[in-house]
Amino acid sequence: MTRRPVLVVLGTRPEAIKLAPVLAALAGSPHLRPRLCVSGQHREMLDQMLAVFGLTPDHDLAVMQPGQELGGLTARIVTGLAPVLAAERPAALLVQGDTTTAFAAALAAFYAGVPVGHVEAGLRTGRLDQPFPEEMNRRLVTQLARWHYAPTERAAAALRREGVGADRIIVSGNPVVDALQAIAAGAPAPPPELADLGAARLLLVTGHRRESFGPGLAGLCDALAALADRFADLRIVYPVHLNPSVHGPVRARLGAHPRITLTAPLDYLAFVALLRRAHLVITDSGGVQEEAPSFAVPVLVTRAATERQEALDAGVARLVGTDRDAIVAAASALLADPAAHAAMRATANPFGDGQAAARIVDHLAAALNAR
Ligand code: UD1
Ligand code: UDP
Repeated sequence: MTRRPVLVVLGTRPEAIKLAPVLAALAGSPHLRPRLCVSGQHREMLDQMLAVFGLTPDHDLAVMQPGQELGGLTARIVTGLAPVLAAERPAALLVQGDTTTAFAAALAAFYAGVPVGHVEAGLRTGRLDQPFPEEMNRRLVTQLARWHYAPTERAAAALRREGVGADRIIVSGNPVVDALQAIAAGAPAPPPELADLGAARLLLVTGHRRESFGPGLAGLCDALAALADRFADLRIVYPVHLNPSVHGPVRARLGAHPRITLTAPLDYLAFVALLRRAHLVITDSGGVQEEAPSFAVPVLVTRAATERQEALDAGVARLVGTDRDAIVAAASALLADPAAHAAMRATANPFGDGQAAARIVDHLAAALNAR
């Protein structure tokens, strides 16, 4: 039997990381075969990840513009995908998560009559402004998708509450754990300049969310400076997102501090190496919240709400918002008290077991009657 084509569409750094294991599973399937279209919503940060995972797109919409706004980005992706869908005529289209690429690609597939599978389905904060616009994007993808690959039972329950049929929901785990395990198994190295941190405790930081632009990002930066001044053995490393609304203010506020290292976005191997070495993580990233428990690194989440409630429930992450004093207080409590820090060390990762991609591709092959 000929292998049926599945078009995977992705556009940003985290989508590449989370869909790389799915693409690998599709490539190994006797029933399905992968076709890859990148929107190019991100350029450098996407290409960095495509290189790490050895992925070569079949189509590249190259939509990124400096300081892009959401409407134009959405329009460029929907319009750009129409001829790709017409040429490829895929049996199904897969998207991941809650980016503009995921939403716009699912919409384009709906227009073309192509069924959509949604990887990382069912995440909700319950607040449309948290994160913005991602909470709306994922709700819209739920409306557009036929198959919903929920990472956890909690995500599956959220989908059922919204009326999604139980027969359309597959609890697969999150393929970010598959990706992390594959990379960690290769003993990745940190960037050379950060290879020897001696006895310093590493505080690894990321922060890039739109709803934090302005005061939120300023609160984070001021908190990091205060922590570096208070704890002499602390080394803070912050790989800064390329969004000008992020790297402008972050470099202006923290660029001169001797124990705060700002880097360009790190490739996934280097980032995983640092995450494994980290004592504490402060982040507003979705993916980093899911990865840190694999290495038992406590996470302080600089958001008002998280859709990764599983990490809060497990006691391995804590919401701290973006207020300077709140971040300093929460981090100081962990840095000053080894018992408090030890109590936040994960014993298992609530987001997956490293087999998500196989479950997704097995299900899709069966759903498409391809086997
Ligand atoms: C996007 C996603 C967000 C995800 C994040 C991952 C949406 C609405 N947002 O946010 O959910 O968490 O990616 O990082 O889909 N830029 C570059 N080079 C790059 C990437 C970005 O220069 O490789 C700059 C460009 O000026 C671009 C800007 O960053 O216009 C914003 O990129 P965009 O994808 O719109 O937003 P993110 O904040 O990255
Ligand atoms: N990451 C990376 N290099 C970095 C920062 C993050 O490889 O310099 C990885 C991180 O391990 C995680 C993903 O990128 O898997 C998170 O991406 P991002 O924070 O951009 O998006 P989000 O997860 O918030 O959607």
